[in-house]
Amino acid sequence: MCGIVGVIGSTSTTDILLTGLKRLEYRGYDSAGLYVNDQSGHDYLVKTVGKISQLEAALTSDVQGTVGIAHTRWATHGQPSVANAHPQFSDSKRFYLVHNGVLNNYHQLRSDYLSDVDFASQTDTEVIVQLVAHFVEHDDMSTFAAFQKTLQLLDGSYAILLVDQEQPDQIFVGKNKSPLLIGIGANFNLVSSDALATYDQTEDYLELHDQEMAVVRQDDVKIYNLDGQLQQREMTQITIDHSAVSKGSYPTFMLKEIDEQPVVMRRIGQEYFDDHRQAIIDPELLNALSHTDRVYFVAAGTSYHASLVGKRLFESYTKIPTEVGVASEFGYHWPILSEKPFFIFLSQSGETADSRQVLVEAKRRHLPVLVITNSANSTLAREANYTLLLHAGPEIAVASTKAYTAQIAVEATLAKALGEKLGIKAAQNFDLLTQLGLAANGMETLVSEKETWSQLAENYLSGINDAFYIGRGVDYDVSLEAALKLKEISYVHTEGFAAGELKHGTIALIEPGIPVIAFITEKSTAAHTRGNVQEVVARGAKVLVIANQDCQEVQDQIILPTLATELMPLLTGVCGQLLAYYATLQRGLNVDQPRNLAKSVTVE
Ligand code: F6R
Repeated sequence: MCGIVGVIGSTSTTDILLTGLKRLEYRGYDSAGLYVNDQSGHDYLVKTVGKISQLEAALTSDVQGTVGIAHTRWATHGQPSVANAHPQFSDSKRFYLVHNGVLNNYHQLRSDYLSDVDFASQTDTEVIVQLVAHFVEHDDMSTFAAFQKTLQLLDGSYAILLVDQEQPDQIFVGKNKSPLLIGIGANFNLVSSDALATYDQTEDYLELHDQEMAVVRQDDVKIYNLDGQLQQREMTQITIDHSAVSKGSYPTFMLKEIDEQPVVMRRIGQEYFDDHRQAIIDPELLNALSHTDRVYFVAAGTSYHASLVGKRLFESYTKIPTEVGVASEFGYHWPILSEKPFFIFLSQSGETADSRQVLVEAKRRHLPVLVITNSANSTLAREANYTLLLHAGPEIAVASTKAYTAQIAVEATLAKALGEKLGIKAAQNFDLLTQLGLAANGMETLVSEKETWSQLAENYLSGINDAFYIGRGVDYDVSLEAALKLKEISYVHTEGFAAGELKHGTIALIEPGIPVIAFITEKSTAAHTRGNVQEVVARGAKVLVIANQDCQEVQDQIILPTLATELMPLLTGVCGQLLAYYATLQRGLNVDQPRNLAKSVTVE
């Protein structure tokens, strides 16, 4: 969601800025822009609505400068338009600014300080740049002091870069809650919201903390707190595997990432198990967890769906009562906690603002926090007491696929290790490493049958406006995820339902021809779900059954190998991904970058 790149050096920055923006495309955006200044009197501002390719096409050869800031915008305040795209600029056209985040008090600031200023956009961001200009031009402050005062006044989340046309040898940087890194290069420095944007420029980064600002020059970086006191910062190394962020021979990132899942399962086996097939988890983490009386999973979207499976894994293999909360709800309605709660946050990106606000409050209450994430250098990973990595490799397609199955595999590993420590028999008998191997093999078969999935998508999902996924127990959990996958990329209205709940209202929506996809992988409930299938068939639904060998019946369309009950989503989840993928492809839509969505949701 929104991307930022800034560079200051001795040669033109335009290419680095554009390349950076292209690498951030996956996060989701609807307009883009850049400002460059050659530090000898020439500057250029170019903004366009739509794709980066449109911005690139709008750049004439003279748009070059040794300092530059660039941005992809995902509209929050004001529609996608050139006026609302960033960089935003002051009335005087002296200050240029890009911003990720959302301000809560921009109306107030505007009426307190800027009632006589003509605003050119509908954005909250414009208030920031107009405020800096106001303090410099009316109150005679230095740009540094004006920027500092402005940041002190802001209530909300922000990652900000500012260039003063009259002092273009520096970029002023501010951060609160939105991610921002300062990269140290040879004879240049850069700033970006994600190291992916600039991984080929440097591996050395300084992390800015919340409520900090910085002044970045070609050969110098100074970090301050908002009181203006200089802060020391250790360099952090961030290395990104270049091949992992390219599509290779794949037509889309999503298909590549679906196909990578067997490898990810095996990698998790290698990373988390020793030669004696023992799960290796940080003993301090296991110790802290073994003293809890209740585990609270908190997450959003697909990660929330993986947490639902996590609850089943924890309760089966550790016998510790476990609850799951949607981050955007949990943060505002904290439940009455047990005496010794332990928080586990699942987040692919490690940057989700909804999850982070709960984490910050959990830390404020001195509660132990584990983050399970794909991003070792993310905000959540930095702020947690403990981190477990997914080892899934960068996930670029907006729809999460390999991170979902990796989350389940890592949850299972943690549950097994903890259950063994607690002497739980089910955990001792759980041969997870073998199960992960079986899951990898099963995934390999699924992804090798692309023709079948494409055909099923065509038979069941073409030309429809609504679809339903149903299941019980863990099959219900995966129904929610499969429904999210289909709706978010194909725009087909899809619901995931507990199969038994259908007859309590939703069955009224079943009409002839409507697709109902049933997951049936649990022996103890299979007969009941079969009954629900009959109910919808009787009302004309087109039913596709995905069962496992333990529950199969001759008319079922897809039969999966049987895994431990709680691990079946490793296979049923992939089925949902493949159906969503082909249904979307057949509609001619952009699979990797669906409308209105962002990969990294950094606003609450
Ligand atoms: C759906 C999807 C989102 C994310 C959600 C949380 O395919 O990707 O629902 O799962 O925005 O993101 P993370 O896991 O980065 O916290």
